[in-house]
Amino acid sequence: MADTLTITDNRTGKSYEIDVTDETVRGLDLRQIKVEEDDFGLMVYDPGYTNTASCRSAITYIDGEAGVLQHRGYPIEELCEKSSYLEVAYLLVFGELPTGPQLERWVYDVTHHTFVHEDMKAFYRGFRHDAHPMGILLAGVGAMSTFYPDGKQIEDEEERYMAAIRLIAKMPTLAAFSYRHSLGLPYVYPDNDLGYAANFLAMMRRMTEIKYAPDERLAKALDVLFILHADHEQNCSTAAVRAVGSSQVDPYSAVAAGVAALYGPLHGGANEAVLRMLRRIEKVENVPDFLEGVKSREEKLMGFGHRVYKNYDPRARIIKKHVDEVLALTGDNPLLDIATELEKRALEDEYFTSRRLYPNVDYYSGLIYEALGIPSEMFTVIFAIPRTSGWIAQWMEMHGDSEQRIARPRQIYTGERDRTYVDVADREGPEKITGPPARRPVRARRGA
Ligand code: ACO
Repeated sequence: MADTLTITDNRTGKSYEIDVTDETVRGLDLRQIKVEEDDFGLMVYDPGYTNTASCRSAITYIDGEAGVLQHRGYPIEELCEKSSYLEVAYLLVFGELPTGPQLERWVYDVTHHTFVHEDMKAFYRGFRHDAHPMGILLAGVGAMSTFYPDGKQIEDEEERYMAAIRLIAKMPTLAAFSYRHSLGLPYVYPDNDLGYAANFLAMMRRMTEIKYAPDERLAKALDVLFILHADHEQNCSTAAVRAVGSSQVDPYSAVAAGVAALYGPLHGGANEAVLRMLRRIEKVENVPDFLEGVKSREEKLMGFGHRVYKNYDPRARIIKKHVDEVLALTGDNPLLDIATELEKRALEDEYFTSRRLYPNVDYYSGLIYEALGIPSEMFTVIFAIPRTSGWIAQWMEMHGDSEQRIARPRQIYTGERDRTYVDVADREGPEKITGPPARRPVRARRGA
């Protein structure tokens, strides 16, 4: 028997049989459900898309109930243990782990596209010295579409490959330049002798050294963090890349939309917020008070909770292991004690367990970044580096999916209709607006 759903519309008494495929009904199948023949038909109201599948995807599998994450079928734990970030990036984009020669070619191509056009430096110089590096990165990625106009040829497989290579290769360079700009330091060019993560650390840190090679163990820890952040199916930024990409804009512009989405504190900005929260808590003894504040909804426990995971985020488990390793090399961080106590108490508290709130990937990642000497404004930027491979893989998948159309949700209109236009002189309201003009933010007032 075919899987179907029978719906009876109690407004009309009519019954409808709707196909169920992959435990999903097609939204458009509901449109036949009408009271009057000229009705629009039934729609689904789903703010935040909490129960809407927007695509079919074979890239990342998540079982949020069980805390499982797999890329192209491989468990994240195994990828972190055995693969490099670039290998995982290849896996995401092409669907298979690369053979030796394929990996060699991929690494060569990425390594030989890490330089950015010199004009990009001039573009970066236009930003205020204290501009947030994520704002700079966002603009830089958007600007790439003007540096590589051939990216617009999205039907050309070679151009799509080049866009993937360029985005993955140049993202660390743009990210490091954003950081150096915010410190007023000269930009450091990529070093082809270094691996992907080590090269990024070198571009952030190098000063007068002729050759700068970061500690291999720290570079490895960063590479694991890159793997952990590479893709996470239809999250806010990936959905943004797909939605913007569905207009058939070039991939650089689509990925810039992903960077913009990631900038938000509820998405990529969460680890920065976790460190701010831990600093505010100040000492372990203040943890119970802070948790009371969360329960009375005066505070939010940043780094906890996830739309999909209703169990321990498997990425948080892997990161937690690496926190200790990295801190053993770089020295203790008192914030770790606060974080550990906060997690322990929250996991014992019915308020959090009943809402199935567990640490997510961002709970511990900020502590590692801080130990690596990376300032908190850079955390989101560092998230964007590996997520680029996920964005581009999802963009490519969308491109090859004949069912995809331009993203264009519906709405339930709640405003007025058919009003009579009134000329400005005849509109009702106070004769004069008194009081000071709206205050501009302090930062905006400082500049010219
Ligand atoms: N602290 C306190 N309470 C929380 C938290 C939190 N971090 N997260 C959710 N809750 C509570 C909500 O208040 C709600 O309680 P209620 O039912 O009594 O009103 C309940 O848990 C369900 O939460 P929702 O907001 O419905 O969950 P949603 O799926 O919409 O939000 C989100 C998920 C945005 C991640 C949320 O948990 C959150 O804001 N967490 C903190 C920010 C964060 O760490 N973001 C990183 C996510 S991972 C990533 O983007 C890489």
